[in-house]
Amino acid sequence: MSALSSLNGYIWKYRGRLALGLFFVLGSNFFAVFPAGLIQESIDLVSEYLIELKTNPERIQTSDFFQALLRLSTLIFLFALFKGILLFMVRQTIIVTSRWIEYDLKNEVFGHYQKMDLEFFRRHSTGDLMNRLSEDISNVRMYLGPVIMYGLNTLVLFVLVLVMMIKTSPFLTLMVFVPLPLLSALVYLVNKRILVQSTKVQEALSSISSFVQEFLSGIRIVKSYGRQEEFEGRFEVQSQGYRQEAVRLMITNAIFFPLILLLIGISTVLAVGVGGWEVHQERISPGVIAEFIIYVNLLTWPVASLGWITSIWQRAEASQLRINEFLNTQSKLKDGKLKVNSNQFVLEFHSVSFTYPETGIQALKSVSFRLEAGQILGITGKTGSGKSTIALLMLRFYDPSKGHITLNGIDLREYSVASVRAVFSLVPQDVFLFSDTIENNIRFGAEGNTEIDEDAFVAASTRAGLHQNVLEFSAGYQTRLGERGVTLSGGQKQRSSIARALFKKGSCLVLDDSLSAVDTSTEREILNHLKQFNGHKALILISHRVSTLQPAQLILVLDEGKRVEFGSPEELMKSKGLYCQFVEHQSPVRMSEL
Ligand SMILES: Nc1ncnc2c1ncn2[C@@H]1O[C@H](COP(=O)(O)OP(=O)(O)O)[C@@H](O)[C@H]1O
Ligand SMILES: [Mg+2]
Repeated sequence: MSALSSLNGYIWKYRGRLALGLFFVLGSNFFAVFPAGLIQESIDLVSEYLIELKTNPERIQTSDFFQALLRLSTLIFLFALFKGILLFMVRQTIIVTSRWIEYDLKNEVFGHYQKMDLEFFRRHSTGDLMNRLSEDISNVRMYLGPVIMYGLNTLVLFVLVLVMMIKTSPFLTLMVFVPLPLLSALVYLVNKRILVQSTKVQEALSSISSFVQEFLSGIRIVKSYGRQEEFEGRFEVQSQGYRQEAVRLMITNAIFFPLILLLIGISTVLAVGVGGWEVHQERISPGVIAEFIIYVNLLTWPVASLGWITSIWQRAEASQLRINEFLNTQSKLKDGKLKVNSNQFVLEFHSVSFTYPETGIQALKSVSFRLEAGQILGITGKTGSGKSTIALLMLRFYDPSKGHITLNGIDLREYSVASVRAVFSLVPQDVFLFSDTIENNIRFGAEGNTEIDEDAFVAASTRAGLHQNVLEFSAGYQTRLGERGVTLSGGQKQRSSIARALFKKGSCLVLDDSLSAVDTSTEREILNHLKQFNGHKALILISHRVSTLQPAQLILVLDEGKRVEFGSPEELMKSKGLYCQFVEHQSPVRMSEL
């Protein structure tokens, strides 16, 4: 029923450690409760000694008295020591286990992310996905660690203390317990307030950080439009909001401790007052009063923590619910069993239509074409005509809504997704470089491929027209790229991305608008390298700029998701269609660029 029950598997996995933890909890509480009886004994010993001293001093054995006192205090000291050691062990077992489960859970969630399709990532914001992994899991960890630890502790302590109290004096027990329900109710209410307020503080804080993050990534725009002051003002408003919430939380927190102290005080007064009366009636010895004061103090914190425990418990429950929601969504892409035969390459689109599930936009309408080893295909069309969608479908980021795609005559869906993606070396339209060295960014193309010799990435980089540039950097290939590679120009980024794809050596190289930021002569140079097949069997050039398609033997022209033309450039020029228009329109522009 409860979302947290999905953690039972993990709890079971670490049952040994947790059982040990329970044992330590029992032990530490035993050593915490038992000394109260010893203190009672010591006080009674002292008071009896004083009475003896007054009534018949000649019969007194001082050395016996001190010996007994020494024995009692040594025991009290040893018990405190054992309690400390066992408390340490409790944390070492239960809290450490919670960290282990947290680690497992993080891996499980992250592993699940890896399996999800693109649609999933578009449906959920990055912030959402990050929160699942950090905040929600850490809330759940609080349940597994502190909640279980303090929960067990409270339970064990409560039972132990209650048994000891009733054994000593049932009436006094009843009396000191009078304020306890009030205490736990108050603590619960204050805690609820703290929870609400700390959530607000968290929200204010994360809104500040996303504000600052956006400001920092847009710093150039902010400066060039001279809007620093406006940002400063907005920041101040945000900070004020945060300060207000934080101060409110502080006030509630400040009420919390005095409240508890007050209630301990009431119980203590009851123990002394009612206890004194009981001593007067000779129903209990004076030491029992001291014993009860210790019990009251022992109980107060666990009872106070009940409210805290329940609130954390609720929060963990909500978090686990969100995590489960994620873990229960399955990728829509079903993995096939076959492996692609890498010696062959024939790619065919059979009347492929595709509608983006998230937006309902129909990006492709019954598109067919065939590409085989040794061929270079150019795909062109206006922005939004569906060019990039073709690349996404080929790599099986999505499955066609209608029609099918075959590779070597077999439907893509029959293959394992990983083996299909291994066939293609894609240079995506949006370049992404990691905050790492240039070398590692290129090597990312074929991580773990030990057959590739040391110079292979230099070769890839040379063919991508990047090598000369890199040599100009003082650190060469070890140059670190900042967040999103800010130190490189647009063209350099694109070429790094191409080098990465070349390094991968997939059967089919796909460039999706990857030369748009590269100057014409460099473009020509790169294309010359690429058309001499080296490591790849087929090449797909996607671009709205026809000059990029210059090496292509086959051209596919798309318009609003439909295939309007398909054939050799010569044929298309003759038929005077869209392609011919593109060539005629774009040529003068190209001339002026030169
Ligand atoms: N992830 C997406 N979700 C929804 N619609 C998309 C997505 N990507 C592209 N589209 C839409 O699909 C159509 C084709 O896009 P795309 O293949 O990127 O065109 P091109 O690469 O030719 O510019 C466009 O109308 C675009 O708005
Ligand atoms: Mg595109």
